[in-house]
Amino acid sequence: MSKSVLITGATRGIGLALAQKYVEDGDLVLVGTRDLNRGLDVVDELRADGGQARLLQIDLMDHGSVMQAGQWIGEQFGKLDLLINNAGVFDDHDIQASHEDSESLHQTFDVNVLGTYLVTQQMLPWLKAADDGMVISMSDELATFANFAASTPTTGLGQRISRMGVNAMTVLLQNELQGEVHFRAVTPGPIASNPARKGAPVATAVDLIQKIDQHKESDWDGKLIGADGVLPF
Ligand SMILES: NC(=O)c1ccc[n+]([C@@H]2O[C@H](COP(=O)([O-])OP(=O)(O)OC[C@H]3O[C@@H](n4cnc5c(N)ncnc54)[C@H](OP(=O)(O)O)[C@@H]3O)[C@@H](O)[C@H]2O)c1
Repeated sequence: MSKSVLITGATRGIGLALAQKYVEDGDLVLVGTRDLNRGLDVVDELRADGGQARLLQIDLMDHGSVMQAGQWIGEQFGKLDLLINNAGVFDDHDIQASHEDSESLHQTFDVNVLGTYLVTQQMLPWLKAADDGMVISMSDELATFANFAASTPTTGLGQRISRMGVNAMTVLLQNELQGEVHFRAVTPGPIASNPARKGAPVATAVDLIQKIDQHKESDWDGKLIGADGVLPF
């Protein structure tokens, strides 16, 4: 059955590939973007073969746009089946933990933690109104205490702390709303989402996210999921 899927940051990389796949599967995709022009182009492309897509302006740094997006979804549809918190800042530079700069950290936390939380909060009424509402949030297996114990690299502090925030949000919201909405965090591993980035093809991330979406049993609720299933925090 066709469902409604909001994907933040859906105009490039993994977000765009997800939008293309869900439209191909016959779902209605709400293309979340902070760039209206690029968003319009993407929506036109997605609709070209009869697909269902709508444009939704969401800038995770602009909380007014997040509130408006929530209101709009309520007025237009009254429910949301799936929220994919894809938009994020990926701080993959080589700066050591002791040398991070405050501006970069600020932006990373604002987008990855606060912005992701506010989008989720605004969509909660509509996710609860869906039969099996689900939130899948981008995280990172490097952002777990289980990984810290074994890891030697000391770079990516902002990415790792911010994704720990996403993991915490996933657990706490799940504990509060068990049985109402599924909350999951996903770690896709390194993905070559642009030519400068090394990793697996974007289809790997899309397949994993769709596998998580299709797994409706509660054993993955409040968990971090990777290619091999549940990972320890
Ligand atoms: N690629 C990897 O290896 C990997 C691994 C683990 C986790 N992740 C996470 O997975 C997600 C997708 O990865 P990716 O490689 O496709 O990332 P990407 O190519 O860097 O794309 C990031 C997306 O987030 C959007 N975005 C950034 N800041 C935003 C804001 N303030 N408001 C709204 N949208 C914003 C960007 O929009 P604009 O186009 O407007 O800039 C873009 O669409 C990211 O959150 C990333 O951190 C990626």
